[in-house]
Amino acid sequence: MITMVDHHQVDAHSWAEIDLAAVQHNFRRARHYAPDSQLCAVIKANAYGHGVEQIARALSHEFRGGDCFAVATLAEARRVYQALGLRDILILRGPVNAAELTEILATGFMWVLHSPWQADLLKQELAFSEDTLAPRMQFQPLRIWVKTNTGMNRLGMSAQAFADIWPWLKSLPQQTSLTLMSHFATADEPALPLAASQLRNFEALADTVALDRECDGMSLSASAGILAWPQAHFSMCRPGIMLYGASPMVGEHGPAFGLLPVMSLKSRLVTINEVRAGDTVGYGATYHCQQDMRIGVIGIGYGDGYPRHAPSGTPVLIHAGGRVFEAPLAGRVSMDMLTVDLTGIPAAPGDEVLLWGQGWGQQLPAERIADLCQTIAYELFCQITSRVKFIYQ
Ligand SMILES: Cc1ncc(COP(=O)(O)O)c(C=O)c1O
Repeated sequence: MITMVDHHQVDAHSWAEIDLAAVQHNFRRARHYAPDSQLCAVIKANAYGHGVEQIARALSHEFRGGDCFAVATLAEARRVYQALGLRDILILRGPVNAAELTEILATGFMWVLHSPWQADLLKQELAFSEDTLAPRMQFQPLRIWVKTNTGMNRLGMSAQAFADIWPWLKSLPQQTSLTLMSHFATADEPALPLAASQLRNFEALADTVALDRECDGMSLSASAGILAWPQAHFSMCRPGIMLYGASPMVGEHGPAFGLLPVMSLKSRLVTINEVRAGDTVGYGATYHCQQDMRIGVIGIGYGDGYPRHAPSGTPVLIHAGGRVFEAPLAGRVSMDMLTVDLTGIPAAPGDEVLLWGQGWGQQLPAERIADLCQTIAYELFCQITSRVKFIYQ
C-alpha cells in the first residue's frame, strides 16, 4: 500500500520516506546518459532496501520496449512477478540447481548462464523434456544472458568455456535469445587500468561470435559504466545504485550527476541532557566532553540499520524551530539510540532528525555518511531493518 506523508500521523521512532518520483527521475537520468541502450533496472535485495514492489511498479511506468528488471535470485524474481505480472526479469545469479532451472524455463524469466555446470544442467533439462512420456513441459522461449569473465573473476565463463558452449547454444532448436554480458570491477575508479582491459576483453569476445549476426544483445555497464564509460554502453545497460540517487563513482555524490535521493531516513529527538566538562558519553566512554555540552538522544540505532561504526563527528540534520542545523554524533551508536552534540542548537525533544537523504529543502547524501563509516551507500540502504517504517510518497 502506498501511504502519503502526513507528519502529524508519523508515530514511528524511525522511518524512511521513499520518493517514488525521484526513482523515476533517476531512471530518466540513466536514459539520458545511455540514450541508445535499453535499460535493465537492478532491483535486487528488495530494491537495495527500498521496497521492491513499490520501486518496480514506479519504474515500470518509465519502461520502453526492451527495458527489463534484474534481481539476484529466483525467489526475488517470483516476488516481482507476483507484484507486477511481468516476466521480463533477469536472474543475475542464474539457477542454482535443476529444480530452479526447471521453474525458470517454465516461467520464461531471463537468466544468467555463468558457469559450464549450468550449461550441463540445461542439456539434461532439454534432453529430459524430449524423452519423457509425461506431457511435455511447456517451455517459454529461452532467454539467456551468457556471462563471461573479463577480469572481475567472480561470476563468468572463461574465454575457453565460452568458446565451447556458445556454438551449442546457437544450435538449440528452441526459440532462444542470447545476450552476451560481463561486469566491470573498477568502473567507479576510471584511473585504474582494469576497466579498460575488461572492455577490450569483452570486445574481443564479441568479435569471436561475430556479434552483429550471432548475438541478440550485449551488456557490460552498471551505474558506473553508464556515467563514466560511454564506449561501454552497448545495447543494454544495468543501472542499480544510481536509480536510488547515490553515486557509484568514488568520491562523488549523486547530485553531481543530477540524481535525487530516494530514501530519506528520519527519526526524532527523544531527550536532551546537560553534560559536564570531563564527562563521557555512551558505551565504552569513548567520547570525552571538553566543555559543558547539550547531548541530544535520537531514537535510532544499529537495531534500525544505522551503522554502529559511524564515528563521532558523523553529521545528522535537525529540524528545530523552523530551521535546519547540522549536529555531529558524539559517542558510540547503540542499538536503539544515538547521541549528538546539540551545544548551541535550539532543539527540543520531538524534533525531527534526518540521518541521510533530503528534508526541509536540504540534502545529506548517504554517500557522505558511508564515507565516514568506510563503506558504501549500497550497504547503508540494504541494512535498514524491519523496525523502520517505510512511507511511500
Ligand atoms: C551483474 C550486475 N549488474 C548490475 C549491477 C548494478 O550495479 P550498480 O548498483 O553499481 O549500478 C550489479 C550490482 O551489483 C550486478 O551485480
